[in-house]
Amino acid sequence: MIIAVDGPSGSGKSSTARGVATRLGLRFLDTGATYRAVTWSALERGLDLDDTAAVADRARELTLDISTDPTRQYVIADGVDVTAAIREPRISESVSKIATNLDVRAELIQRQRAIIDDAQPTGGIVVEGRDIATVVATDAELKVLLTADQEARLARRGAELAAGAVTAEQLRDQIVRRDADDATVSQFQVASDGAVTIDSTHLSLEEVIDVISRLAKE
Ligand code: CDP
Repeated sequence: MIIAVDGPSGSGKSSTARGVATRLGLRFLDTGATYRAVTWSALERGLDLDDTAAVADRARELTLDISTDPTRQYVIADGVDVTAAIREPRISESVSKIATNLDVRAELIQRQRAIIDDAQPTGGIVVEGRDIATVVATDAELKVLLTADQEARLARRGAELAAGAVTAEQLRDQIVRRDADDATVSQFQVASDGAVTIDSTHLSLEEVIDVISRLAKE
């Protein structure tokens, strides 16, 4: 069983996918974390992010241990726990550039597919990202495209703003600028057949989890 959940930043896909996995007793894979880990590593090594060959080599060399337990997420890159570091604004600012590197994508997609295969004997996995239904797991039993209008997505990230975790400018950068940059990522995708679109603008997290869990049992 594979459930693919794709959507833009702030659509709530991470919390939703994690919630669905927890409820249905499935594994969970946050593919964005793999792009973030490569970004962290490239910055750590002081690589020029425009040097696509050097960045692709880094992606191939990086040892990545990513948790598929929806209730206990962690990412370990080359032995370093980067769970918190990969969420920093400096990573969010650069990750779209890494994600447009075709060799990085090829490497990470291969690793994501291996994690998905490993999860099958345990019952299955909920995989979230941008290109899951279209590229990574085109054979997914359930494909969900989660959308929400830009204001709703900004409002959701408002909690991080209130907590002082990000500034208003960083927040807008994460949502508005990354939408534009990720339009470039979309060129690697083709429309997905049989995907269910859920507009979460007026739905609570629990409501979206309910809808997807119900669809999964059909
Ligand atoms: O959570 P948020 O939507 O802010 O970002 P994310 O899911 O952590 O993904 C970070 C970035 O990785 C995205 O902005 C994309 O540039 C890239 N990405 C991708 O290209 N393909 C994926 N399957 C997942 C993420």
